[in-house]
Amino acid sequence: MTTLSQRLKDPALFRTESFINGQWVRGETTFEVHNPADRGHLADVHDVGESGARQAVAAAAAAFEVWKKTSVFERARIVQRWNDLIIENADDLGALITAEMGKPLPEAKGEVVYGAGFVSWSAEEAKRLHGETLATPFPGTRGWTIHQPIGVVACITPWNFPSAMITRKCAPALAAGCAVVVKPAPETPLSALALAELASQAGFPDGVFNVICGEAEAIGPVLTGSDVVRMVGFTGSTSVGKLLMRQAADGVKRVSLELGGNAPFIVMDDADVEAAADGVIASKFRAAGQTCVSANRIIAQEGIADPLIAAISARMEKLKVGSGFDGGVQVGPLIHDEAVARVDNLVQDARAKGARIVHGGAPLAEELGGAFYAPTLIESGENYGLDIANNEIFGPVASVYRASSEKEMIRLANDTPYGLAAYVYTRDVGRVHRLTEGLDFGMVGVNAPMVGSPATPFGGVKESGIGREGGKWGVEEFTELKFVLLGGVDA
Ligand code: SIN
Repeated sequence: MTTLSQRLKDPALFRTESFINGQWVRGETTFEVHNPADRGHLADVHDVGESGARQAVAAAAAAFEVWKKTSVFERARIVQRWNDLIIENADDLGALITAEMGKPLPEAKGEVVYGAGFVSWSAEEAKRLHGETLATPFPGTRGWTIHQPIGVVACITPWNFPSAMITRKCAPALAAGCAVVVKPAPETPLSALALAELASQAGFPDGVFNVICGEAEAIGPVLTGSDVVRMVGFTGSTSVGKLLMRQAADGVKRVSLELGGNAPFIVMDDADVEAAADGVIASKFRAAGQTCVSANRIIAQEGIADPLIAAISARMEKLKVGSGFDGGVQVGPLIHDEAVARVDNLVQDARAKGARIVHGGAPLAEELGGAFYAPTLIESGENYGLDIANNEIFGPVASVYRASSEKEMIRLANDTPYGLAAYVYTRDVGRVHRLTEGLDFGMVGVNAPMVGSPATPFGGVKESGIGREGGKWGVEEFTELKFVLLGGVDA
């Protein structure tokens, strides 16, 4: 039985250099990666900076010329091999996620398997990028469409899903014939580099898949400014997404942006209250609330609000908080101490404005020795003006609001610049249609607290983003649709 530190330092997966053109490349400086559960030092990762970014883009541009002409069956075989290696190494990849991001080990392994699902799906789906034969108005002509890979793609990925957000972007791009440069979040580079190690074992040609680590300020402008990068995929905050979109505008690049959310979790009077409370726990406490699709505003109809608060409260009493490596822990740390302070500011604003703190309401950093926040339940009544109602919480804090009519609930739910995910709990089929059609969100879970899967479209509207990941849409995003008109056919 190997210890965790042995497993993490196993050179087969534990990498600290960047992966450029099939080589492990060192930088002139390094940056530290820490475990948020105990602030322990995990690694010094090489910062390859602007020059590393330029090398990676040049390598990807050269590799793209060959990769795009490689048969889709051969590309799919290599992508599928990557999937198989990810699954074979799921324990170690999960441990890396827990070490650098903090989520509980079973959840981290779940992320690895979830992320691999996008890899095997993409390997299959790329074979089905069919063009169409079209009617033409001109005698003696024929018309058809073909999908072609868009080119070099830059993927800028977040720390909250250090593995799955890379596979969800890169696997469809690679399977479609694109070459990729990944820039992972500085908090969680180790998972990204482990995925690069497995991609190298899977047999991607040099330069097709590159991972570069370092400061966003130096690397970002190279990726968005390069003429050969034709698309920028990003998951992260709306403010950074807007910046990338502005930078990409100069080169008229395609952007695929999965940005912030402010998910309403609507519970109607007729809902199954126990199922709704289970849903709140699943949606709210996954990744300690640090997902873009976490329930942010639990909007309960007046008749069900009290039993719902009681049912959520009973479940929260049993939640175990601690290091993600400890057995039975369901809620790990936040990503760092600044995140704890930000969440606490939102909670203290709610308290000061008269909201009732039913559970928690304070950091646990002192008690547990890391970036922990107590799972918190707030009864916010009809106070939709709280900071916590209008900002993405990104922490283990559930805030319940009251509303009377269905119409008003839809209005309140839509009263946000965001539009990623929404949830509805009801057993009335008419309501299902009225609510799902009335909610301005890219995804709606009905009596279901999670919406992402390899086969389905993931993405938002309004300031929550542009484009869709997952399913056939996630593969098509990485292609250009070309129309061909052939003349002289019947001459
Ligand atoms: C995210 O929070 O960005 C992704 C969540 C998911 O895939 O379920």
